[in-house]
Amino acid sequence: MTRFSRITGTGSFLPPRRLTNADLVADLAARGVETSDEWIVERTGIHARHFADDAMATSDLGFEAACRALDAAGRRPQDIDLIIVATSTPDMVFPSTAAILQHKLAQLDEDAAGIAGAAAFDVQAVCTGFIYALTVADAMIRAGNARRALVIGAEVFSRLLDFQDRTTCVLFGDGAGAVVLEASEQPGIRSSDIHADGKHVGILCVPGHVRNGVISGDPLLKMDGQAVFKLAVGLLESAARQALAKGGLQDSDIDWLIPHQANIRIIQSTARKLKLPMEKVVLTVHDHGNTSAASIPLALDHGVRTGLVKPGQNLLLEGVGGGFTWGAVLLTL
Ligand code: ACO
Repeated sequence: MTRFSRITGTGSFLPPRRLTNADLVADLAARGVETSDEWIVERTGIHARHFADDAMATSDLGFEAACRALDAAGRRPQDIDLIIVATSTPDMVFPSTAAILQHKLAQLDEDAAGIAGAAAFDVQAVCTGFIYALTVADAMIRAGNARRALVIGAEVFSRLLDFQDRTTCVLFGDGAGAVVLEASEQPGIRSSDIHADGKHVGILCVPGHVRNGVISGDPLLKMDGQAVFKLAVGLLESAARQALAKGGLQDSDIDWLIPHQANIRIIQSTARKLKLPMEKVVLTVHDHGNTSAASIPLALDHGVRTGLVKPGQNLLLEGVGGGFTWGAVLLTL
């Protein structure tokens, strides 16, 4: 019998501190940086974002999202045998945020301690991270290497922002989203399509790294926004088309497009190319900003919890990000 994987629960978490554009504009003005609500809304569709306080790490955000996904799936930590965290803002250089998060789940109670021993690792594909992580978890489940996975996208991107650079610091936010993915006789995940092209490293990167105990190079985010924009629209369409072809479905079979929430104009262009009305697109960019690897599972959970996205519907998840990386997952909820 063919073995598939299926999402059985979703969860998400946003740190409590919410900054509207007005809050951010005032904060930046105090630093001598000029921007406006009008500019941000018109160019990006973003109205607000959430920033984690200093004491909150990526694993803390991921932990909250994971607990909510487990609750939704009717599962406990000890039922999980694989944890994959997609992040570009790990708690430490090593060990993985997934291992740290596993231990936080293990400490919930005596039974939860049974999650110790589950495989745990991070995936680094920037804003495409969740698509990569879901693809890997699906492959491991189908191959019989795992039975129940927690797949999490979690980020504290605010810590990578240069608040003197108005072209980037208005775009991003912090948050986490998670799914429980389980072995199933029914799909579930129908197809996925992931890619990377390292020649574009320079248009979106955080070049700094640790060398001999000091940070070498610039540790803040650099982006050529226009180059990213142009590349993103074409790559998202191509990933969506390939996932649809592999999964044997047409544009018209998609009930919901759940795209990476970077910029409303990129999302509108992709929807247009796929001939999907915006009524079939789950949108959170206005309230979350770009939360990188967290944005797709955050949007998925938002869709599920608001009752828009329902069991049995066909969802196309797609993302693009630094690397350059891009990809899509086609699934039936
Ligand atoms: N407030 C006010 N003015 C600004 C701001 C700001 N925050 N930022 C830039 N400007 C100015 C520029 O200085 C420029 O002024 P000038 O004409 O006097 O030189 C003007 O606005 C236009 O700048 P552009 O860069 O041409 O603006 P554009 O329409 O391209 O929008 C943006 C910029 C929003 C960054 C857009 O290019 C974009 O969304 N790109 C994609 C970014 C993205 O999605 N990144 C995430 C990818 S996923 C990941 O892996 C993280």
